[in-house]
Amino acid sequence: MQAVILVGGEGTRLRPLTSTLPKPVVSLVDRPMMVYMLEWLRGHGVDDVIMSCGFKATKVREVLGDGSQLGISLRFLEEPDPRGTAGALKFAEELLDERFLMLNGDVLTDIDLGAQIAQHEQSGATGTLALVGVADPSSYGLVKVRDDSSVEAFLEKPSADTMLDTNLISAGAYVLERSVLDLIAPDKNVSIEREVWPALVDEGLFGFVDDAAYWIDVGTPERYLQATFDILEGNVRTGVAEKLGEGFLSVDQSATVAGRAVPPAIVGAGSQVGEGSHVGSLAVLAGDVAVGENSVVERAVVLEGARIGDGCVLRECIVGPGVRIGDRSQVIGGAMLGENVVLGSDNVVARGARLFPGMEVPDGGLAF
Ligand code: GDD
Ligand code: MG
Repeated sequence: MQAVILVGGEGTRLRPLTSTLPKPVVSLVDRPMMVYMLEWLRGHGVDDVIMSCGFKATKVREVLGDGSQLGISLRFLEEPDPRGTAGALKFAEELLDERFLMLNGDVLTDIDLGAQIAQHEQSGATGTLALVGVADPSSYGLVKVRDDSSVEAFLEKPSADTMLDTNLISAGAYVLERSVLDLIAPDKNVSIEREVWPALVDEGLFGFVDDAAYWIDVGTPERYLQATFDILEGNVRTGVAEKLGEGFLSVDQSATVAGRAVPPAIVGAGSQVGEGSHVGSLAVLAGDVAVGENSVVERAVVLEGARIGDGCVLRECIVGPGVRIGDRSQVIGGAMLGENVVLGSDNVVARGARLFPGMEVPDGGLAF
């Protein structure tokens, strides 16, 4: 089975994590975000993947390679200019089979694609959209379906006065027949959500609901943290669950923890946790992270090579690769530190503040 994955967005809402790396290869728990999607697809028999890239394609290719490690053939396509979600598909036309999957590259899910494909076939659909129920659907593509699963209406990110009476949204996972390509003008920026789905309503567009599935769009820092916690807690089926085992704790053999690691938590290769510090619950220390003494890292992610001083508190935050944090500093309340930020001692960074890559803050320079 073939799949096209859209990864051409700029990931602006995840800055500064995406200031230096494209979203698909930003690390989530212990592997690049895209690897979850590839493992999930592989598990459903997908062996041929076309990555539809825009932004920083070279880096994506460098990190993911040719897919052979995952048992998948990976090909990369780069648009000459951003083509939008449908334009990107059109750009891949020559490579596409009669039937294929199309995925938004920024979702973490374990939807049963096998069941979705089966329903697609049975209904004779041209396109079948995976649907999930969410509490606030307004920032997604809203879908209203009839009892026979046919789509009655599709509305992308409606304004308050045009809201549809539904809590079902498009999950960004589609089964498509090649004939949808006939609806897309070539060489143009075209949105599949705004132009193609509405045109397909009553012309073969169906919805597939998997009530048991986990689903999240990892597009904002809050949801990045939520996805991290859900992976650690095993709320979504991923390879990380196997690694964590029944104790929900993975401390790499080469890591040294003098303090405590409280599950669920993961401590990567070469990382060190000093005397009196505790890491977890719900903490990720990527590789080569050093945490000093008497510090707390809880409900937080600390990426590769970061150095945390003594007496620090890291809670509800994301600390980018190579960051340095001086003694007694606090990074809390949804704050995010970009790659190689240097935060002196006795600082407080809170309330969702974002420090951009390379920024330097002197000792006691910030009390947010
Ligand atoms: N190749 C390419 N070219 N990819 C693109 C382009 C482009 O011009 N524009 C966006 N993408 C990719 C993004 O990288 C992302 O993986 C996917 O297409 C969807 O774009 P987002 O920018 O993340 O859209 P969204 O999250 O606001 O909304 C979409 O996803 C929702 C579910 O998460 C829509 O498909 C909604 O209908 C859907 O509900
Ligand atoms: Mg998205």
